[in-house]
Amino acid sequence: MDQIAIFASGTGSNAKAIIQYFDEHESIKVNCLLSNKPSAKALDMAASFGIHTKLISRAELENPMLLIDFLKERGISLIVLAGYLKKIPADMVKAFPNAIINIHPALLPDFGGKGMYGMHVHQAVVEAGVGKSGMTIHYVNEVYDDGGIIFQASVDLEETDQAADVAKKVLTLEHRHYPKVIEQLLLERSK
Ligand code: GRF
Repeated sequence: MDQIAIFASGTGSNAKAIIQYFDEHESIKVNCLLSNKPSAKALDMAASFGIHTKLISRAELENPMLLIDFLKERGISLIVLAGYLKKIPADMVKAFPNAIINIHPALLPDFGGKGMYGMHVHQAVVEAGVGKSGMTIHYVNEVYDDGGIIFQASVDLEETDQAADVAKKVLTLEHRHYPKVIEQLLLERSK
């Protein structure tokens, strides 16, 4: 069984789509959901599905080895970031080579990097007047939004679309693709 750990800081709508998709999957299991934010809705959502949840402590944020031990003890083979807003420490990247992935709500390399999260991304897309946006699933390395791209999907934008409209369109794409890309990645790896 491949065991997934999801990291989320916010609502957790992607986390929910992933948890639902892998419910009763024969070879992939969502093992736990971790958050750095006590108020993250993702924590309650995951608990309501019977998923083990964990609030990452300050000590764990400062000393990634503690978190790495926790994840290794639970047999985690893939860390899935879904709206997780803290930087992943270099030690964790080293401990999970090619086994940490993230979703970004735009077509990287455009509209990525520091400060490009949440509505800031969609606002920048609207201001740039581009005809489409989309989502990118990529490996995580030590630099924000910089790891190798695994999958991208795009959506057409209307001239009248505001940031909230773009956000809605992109989120629909994310929910459709993120679970399937995770599944494909893990099935490919276990071949
Ligand atoms: C998504 O748009 C994702 O691309 C970004 O953060 C957002 C998380 O949304 N990294 P949710 O918490 O999954 O609803």
